[in-house]
Amino acid sequence: MSFTVAIDGPAAAGKGTISKGVAAQFGFAHLDTGLLYRAVGRRTLDGTDPVEAAQALTAEELQQGDLRTAEIAQAASKVAVVPEVRAALVDFQRVFARRAGGAVLDGRDIGTVICPEAEVKLFVTASTEVRAERRFLELSAKGANVTREFVLADVRERDVRDAERSTAPMKPAADAVLLDTSDLSVEAALAQAVALVESKCPATP
Ligand code: CDP
Ligand code: CDP
Repeated sequence: MSFTVAIDGPAAAGKGTISKGVAAQFGFAHLDTGLLYRAVGRRTLDGTDPVEAAQALTAEELQQGDLRTAEIAQAASKVAVVPEVRAALVDFQRVFARRAGGAVLDGRDIGTVICPEAEVKLFVTASTEVRAERRFLELSAKGANVTREFVLADVRERDVRDAERSTAPMKPAADAVLLDTSDLSVEAALAQAVALVESKCPATP
């Protein structure tokens, strides 16, 4: 039986952390859909056409190299406005969402476009400043040469591009539960998400 948890929200809100925690807690599979756009974005850095890159994307590419750089995040948000790029990635996400045993997908349009029938929808937010600081700490910890100002500008720019594009803009689904993690620890945010999933999925342990 399938069971889909859709987790959307802006950059560094804590979507991935919550998704991994929910997946571990319930034994669900997890797909970070941002990696799809990042992998397409990475391919365009050498001039490859984004639509061709999206149509030729393989699951293996999502595991190759570090896709979580600031340069690739920018490239991802630029290819993500192209309707044909988004269209090329839909089937892979929908098949993943409906796999047996449950799935958590995190991104920007999971609850609105990819899985409007998801059993659980969560929209995770936090203030822009808190998100930029989290991402700055993450990138610095792995040795990236970035400043706070640069990361804040990247987050702001991507937020605007993601929210204002005409195809599948980032927004909470009408039936999504909103979770502001600005003042929450990872543990507290995860506990709220787990409680929500439990309330919709009473048969799980
Ligand atoms: O997936 P998304 O870009 O939304 O964010 P993430 O990669 O899950 O989280 C970004 C950073 O914020 C990670 O280093 C988390 O440990 C940290 N964080 C969090 O996710 N949630 C909190 N309540 C507090 C911190
Ligand atoms: O981790 P963070 O939230 O910073 O970014 P991400 O989730 O890896 O997504 C990178 C970029 O891909 C976003 O800025 C969006 O432009 C795009 N994206 C999208 O349009 N739709 C999705 N379902 C996931 C990501």
